Amino acid sequence: MSQLAATSNPLDPEMEQWDEFLQGRYREGKTEEEFRQYDATATPGVAEFYRLNHENQTVSYVLAKEKEYFGLTRGQKSIWQAADFLNTLVDDSDPDTDLTQLEHLLQTSEAMRRDNRPRWMVATGFVHDLGKVLCLYGEPQWGVVGDTFPVGCAWSKDIVFPEYFAQNPDLHNPLYQTKYGIYEPNCGLDAVHMSFGHDGYIYEAMKNYLPTSALYMLRYHSFYPWHKHGAYTHLTNEQDQQNLHWIHEFNQYDLYSKGHTKPNLAELKPYYDDLFAEFFPTTLAW
Ligand SMILES: [Fe+2]
Ligand SMILES: [Fe+2]
Repeated sequence: MSQLAATSNPLDPEMEQWDEFLQGRYREGKTEEEFRQYDATATPGVAEFYRLNHENQTVSYVLAKEKEYFGLTRGQKSIWQAADFLNTLVDDSDPDTDLTQLEHLLQTSEAMRRDNRPRWMVATGFVHDLGKVLCLYGEPQWGVVGDTFPVGCAWSKDIVFPEYFAQNPDLHNPLYQTKYGIYEPNCGLDAVHMSFGHDGYIYEAMKNYLPTSALYMLRYHSFYPWHKHGAYTHLTNEQDQQNLHWIHEFNQYDLYSKGHTKPNLAELKPYYDDLFAEFFPTTLAW
């Protein structure tokens, strides 16, 4: 059994499949009708994943998880050490064709590098999913991956499987069910508590080291209701709107191309050693 499987619901497929589900759902050119149909025909495992996510991501859950993790009290690690740690999340069901976590990071960053994207963006591509170490800290998959959305205000219809919010206890707090909820109009996303997951955690770990554009990519790459549907614009400020395009730039590289050549770590390592030395201290807090 992989370490991931040991802490997950037997119904759940491996974590990588959630990302593929998201990306398949949002494939370019898909019509709204196809989008809905995809949800309706989703596997029971996917529906169950979102049921758990939508029922449990409450304001109090999010505040408690932010307190537990955003202080970065889980020790110092280099970027390579964090990546090696994440890489212990291995899907044992199909080891020949699935990418490891590290291979996914390298595929993302290497695709950026081939396109001559700036070095800060290549670094961002490499670290973007390191927040999935939350699974190794014992967090359930529904609390680590999947779409993110604001808590403490009305849920958008553009969140996948909105019907599952019917069992979320925040439904019974009238303040949380208003358009702005606990927020001010156009307060900016920095003031908004997002459902807890790997985006928010990697943002906290990286916020002192990467430029604002990179931090938007990290913090909101799973905030599909906003970056794909334009929902929650009433909570965004000018800085958010100016940086939205960076999330779109990022997302086209966050791919799982299986069955293709796997990145050669030994060959690539010297480049990444230099890259990490440029942006990060030898070790950083996690
Ligand atoms: Fe991700
Ligand atoms: Fe990813």
